Amino acid sequence: MKRYKRYPIWLVALLILSFIVSACARSAPKKAESKELNLLCTPQVEWCEGMKAEFEKKYPDITVNFVRMSSGESLTRLRNERDNPQFDIWWGGPVDSFIAAKKEGLLEAYKSPNAKNLVDPKLMKDPDDYWVGVYVGSLGFATNKNFLQDHPDAKAPESWDDLLDPVWKGQFMMAHPSSSGTAYTTLCTILQLKGEEEGWEYLRKLAGQVLQFTKSGSAPARFIGQGEAAVGVVFSHDIVREIEKGAPLVLSFPKEGTGYEIGGMGIIKGAKHPDAAKKWFDWALLPETQELGPKYGAYQAPTVKGAKPARPELLQVNLIDYDFEWCGEHKKEFVDKFTNEIAGAENLRK
Ligand code: G6P
Repeated sequence: MKRYKRYPIWLVALLILSFIVSACARSAPKKAESKELNLLCTPQVEWCEGMKAEFEKKYPDITVNFVRMSSGESLTRLRNERDNPQFDIWWGGPVDSFIAAKKEGLLEAYKSPNAKNLVDPKLMKDPDDYWVGVYVGSLGFATNKNFLQDHPDAKAPESWDDLLDPVWKGQFMMAHPSSSGTAYTTLCTILQLKGEEEGWEYLRKLAGQVLQFTKSGSAPARFIGQGEAAVGVVFSHDIVREIEKGAPLVLSFPKEGTGYEIGGMGIIKGAKHPDAAKKWFDWALLPETQELGPKYGAYQAPTVKGAKPARPELLQVNLIDYDFEWCGEHKKEFVDKFTNEIAGAENLRK
């Protein structure tokens, strides 16, 4: 009688098991494609609306539900929703908050195939792929032209110390760093320019000039344009947007150096629609997507090769070597110090 070769029982069991597993894998239903994407959007609402419309044009089967929220508020929301995240992706706002979010385990790493498009991956991407940069913008000063006409002794500030001039007492506006990434970029720029001890002393004096802190970073440009205050610190592209809308503003920059932002993007840990989030993430790293900004009054510079900046002059100013990692790592500590020791965040102007 023909004797069959005897195989060890474990090998036979393994072969049967691997057959069953591969048969199940083939028959398992493919995870359905998400039909919606929940976007946490930090730039101004017009741009958020525009990006939603543009994305839905490209992916008509996906509805984008977005909430516009400033950087600090966004970070607080992600912390509160850590165990049941409502958002899938966070787009916009300075990366300082994304670095803080990564440190708190609020983001998901994602290696986008389009990250190769970045002009400067070392500067514009987290080494562990938790966030990427999608735009760049510099801090500038906005000054109301009518105020300058009525006050011949006043001139548009050309240094951070000019903002302490008594002529601006009660006439200065900026957002509060607890809610605004713009304001936090200002705070961390001062600490880097002047050193921590002198920097905190300066911030204490600057707070004494403030008419009222605002919740969102771009709001002071609007209020100063309306003449409610005379001077403020905002990202320069937001000042350009208000000037283009007819606001009587002068844009100037501190000659000793100004800070800048890299607007960030990251997928939320535990996102319910990760496939849709990855579609947005990849799409936002295309040159044609980053050139959409000006269509929605957004003049930030792009971060990817092949995308043409609409206002290159806004980055052709004296930029400090902003330390995003240091500012991100210390965000909670510095915001708490400002809020507890310099100015509270009770009645922020919306
Ligand atoms: C504006 C600017 C963006 C910036 C954002 C930060 O929308 O155009 O470049 O990232 O403000 O918002 P926040 O309210 O956190 O300062």
